Amino acid sequence: MKKATGTAREIALEALRRVEDGGAYANLIVPSLLDRSSLEPADRRFVTELVYGTTRRRRACDALIDRFVSAPPDIETRRVLRLGAYQIVFGGVAPHAAVSTTVSLAPRRTRGFVNAVLRRVATTPMVWPDQPTRLSYPNWIVTTFEHEFGTEAVDCLERMNEPAPVTRRPDGYVQDLASQWVVEAVGARQGERILDTCAGPGGKSTALAATGARVVGADANATRAGLVARNAVSCGVDVEVVVADARRPPMADGSFDRVLVDAPCSGLGALRRRPDARWRVSQSDVDDLVRLQAAILESSVRLVKPGGLLAYSVCTITARESIGHRIPDGFEVVGRDGHDVPTLRDEWDDYGHGFRLAPHRTDTDGMVLVRYRRTS
Ligand SMILES: C[S@@+](CC[C@H](N)C(=O)[O-])C[C@H]1O[C@@H](n2cnc3c(N)ncnc32)[C@H](O)[C@@H]1O
Repeated sequence: MKKATGTAREIALEALRRVEDGGAYANLIVPSLLDRSSLEPADRRFVTELVYGTTRRRRACDALIDRFVSAPPDIETRRVLRLGAYQIVFGGVAPHAAVSTTVSLAPRRTRGFVNAVLRRVATTPMVWPDQPTRLSYPNWIVTTFEHEFGTEAVDCLERMNEPAPVTRRPDGYVQDLASQWVVEAVGARQGERILDTCAGPGGKSTALAATGARVVGADANATRAGLVARNAVSCGVDVEVVVADARRPPMADGSFDRVLVDAPCSGLGALRRRPDARWRVSQSDVDDLVRLQAAILESSVRLVKPGGLLAYSVCTITARESIGHRIPDGFEVVGRDGHDVPTLRDEWDDYGHGFRLAPHRTDTDGMVLVRYRRTS
């Protein structure tokens, strides 16, 4: 691939261009552009911070800018203005440095305009019109968090505007603690047969296999199933990888001691890890996901052997995508402790008949876990 040249800010602007106009994912395009650059580590961190921060704060940056704009600027000029406003207001960059280095990135004909607007952004205190604009989320996401967390919603949303900590497992695999705690809660034991119905890219399958359990990692998406196989090799564990739609699983009834359904979800609990996700996901996506999750859950229950465990998890924090699903017939809810499952750690809050991790309290992704035992 061609080497990417340019300063940190030029590369950041290119990444923003690909995210905003090309639909690229920030967490994929930034590493890919950095791999092709010759930037030093400190500059690489700066690029990541600029792209992630400007993307998260897009709505807030637009509000900061729009105070001083009478006609909407062209898309490229707006992009440069956002990058400048982010550095000045949120990024801790000295205003004169932010303005002078950012103006030169603008199209030649709008440099004077960008300079004037950014100077005013730097010197005019902001009066935010409302909370969603200040926090820089779509209105419906703020409403959803207020419904779920009440007065703690702002803390939670603010936490998800900060960079996520990087946590590594003993085998080197980078995985958020919330996901590690889901694996722990499944309680897989040596020799047991475990199915991970939605396994790609394999974070949980590989951790389950590290217990000595015999793990089948399935995913409907062949590319993501391929990642499970690759990650199993690099973690040094055995996972039997299957490409399968969990709504029609090609496995025998009652053939697993434990089944993990780590369902596709809106990802509202992992927004700090995926800076552009808040602008991609919509309320109607959530409706579709709720239907998909219900169908996956319904088809997975028959795979659990009598007395076996079904664990359902989602990296979101809403009831609709988790405890809103019907308790499967022939199953009972497993509480904080049970005879053959580990007692849940205190970080899991009680949440209906399940448990939830709140990002602002645990400094992890938000996650809901429900455990069921097959009784008949
Ligand atoms: C939350 S991710 C799983 C993350 C994974 N368990 C891990 O820890 O690395 C959800 C996965 O479900 C897969 N998926 C979506 N629809 C599916 C379906 N109908 N059947 C099986 N897998 C599906 C997606 O391809 C995606 O890889």
